[in-house]
Amino acid sequence: MKILGIETSCDETSAAVLCDGKVLSNIVSSQLCHTDFGGVVPELASREHERLIVSIAEAAITEANITKNELDVIAATAGPGLIGAVMVGLCFAEGLAWALSKPFVPVNHVEAHIFSPFISDEPGHVGPEGDFVSLTVSGGHTLLSIVHQDLGYEVIGRTIDDAAGEAFDKTGKMLGLGYPAGPVIDRLARQGDPEFYRFPRAMTSSSQTSKSYRNNFDFSFSGLKTSVLTWLGRHDKEHIERHMADIAASIQQAIVSVLVEKTVAAALLHKVKTISIAGGVSANSGLRSAMQEACIRNGLELFVPKATYSTDNAAMIATMAELMISRGRFTENSYGIAPFARFIPARRGAH
Ligand code: KG4
Ligand code: ZN
Repeated sequence: MKILGIETSCDETSAAVLCDGKVLSNIVSSQLCHTDFGGVVPELASREHERLIVSIAEAAITEANITKNELDVIAATAGPGLIGAVMVGLCFAEGLAWALSKPFVPVNHVEAHIFSPFISDEPGHVGPEGDFVSLTVSGGHTLLSIVHQDLGYEVIGRTIDDAAGEAFDKTGKMLGLGYPAGPVIDRLARQGDPEFYRFPRAMTSSSQTSKSYRNNFDFSFSGLKTSVLTWLGRHDKEHIERHMADIAASIQQAIVSVLVEKTVAAALLHKVKTISIAGGVSANSGLRSAMQEACIRNGLELFVPKATYSTDNAAMIATMAELMISRGRFTENSYGIAPFARFIPARRGAH
């Protein structure tokens, strides 16, 4: 089965071809037009997707060494994301499926991230075996879920304010590191001292509030932003510049330690032996190594996507479509699906 996946939910225009579970091509074009604005400008993102979508899809099909008539299924992100951006990819993919008389599979972008550690460069992969705890951390989402083999999942925690990626991007912006600042902080942190300054770890066992956060799997990163701003206001430019790597390492340590503590605690509480991390922030080298160490200490197995599949890409959309088809979660054509901007999954135990 050959699947074309299309992803345009934010500022990456991407197309990928999957053949029997193996990625044949995955073309990602990251938009540079937002850099000067310090964040993604929705209108510009939609226009840029529209300009590129046909050539990116063509490139993915050519690199896979097939023709578009050989495609069996077309899949695209239906949300969540910037609504105008989502609509460009969704309309293109639906139109192509209709023209080729092929089934169209709408994919939830966050769910595609959750299963991205199982994207395969080998044919015939079967996805996860058994339950796992997924930490999905991107620019828009911070979700902790218990995921089942049949693709069902329950959200047990989420951010109550900023997403983990926003915590990197917004504190990085304060330091003048451009957008997105996550990868820059990651690079700088490798040369810095993570113990240089202890920024707050909100809603953890070590947070300064009297309330106990044991077995609470929600996250909060807005206090970190305030704390970085306060610290910067108290020091002169020369001191800040001299210690840029140390500040980056300290910010990264504050974010990573919260993510690791809560994810491991969730796995132990729910007696799940496997953890996976996904989403743009899962590319972070500090998170990868700290999570790996914590998993080894606690006898847990860790699944991590390849760095190219951590940030937004269409291989994860095509893989999710294949998993949905193979698990019987998709049976008919879904032409005319409504694109959606927000994703509010039901919480475990919620009605
Ligand atoms: O998954 P993604 O590409 O897009 C969304 O769905 O949001 O994630 C983008 C986010 C940005 O906030 C970016 O700063 C962050 O992922 N990111 C990183 C790293 N690479 C990307 N954050 C920390 N360290 C990295 N190496
Ligand atoms: Zn994403």
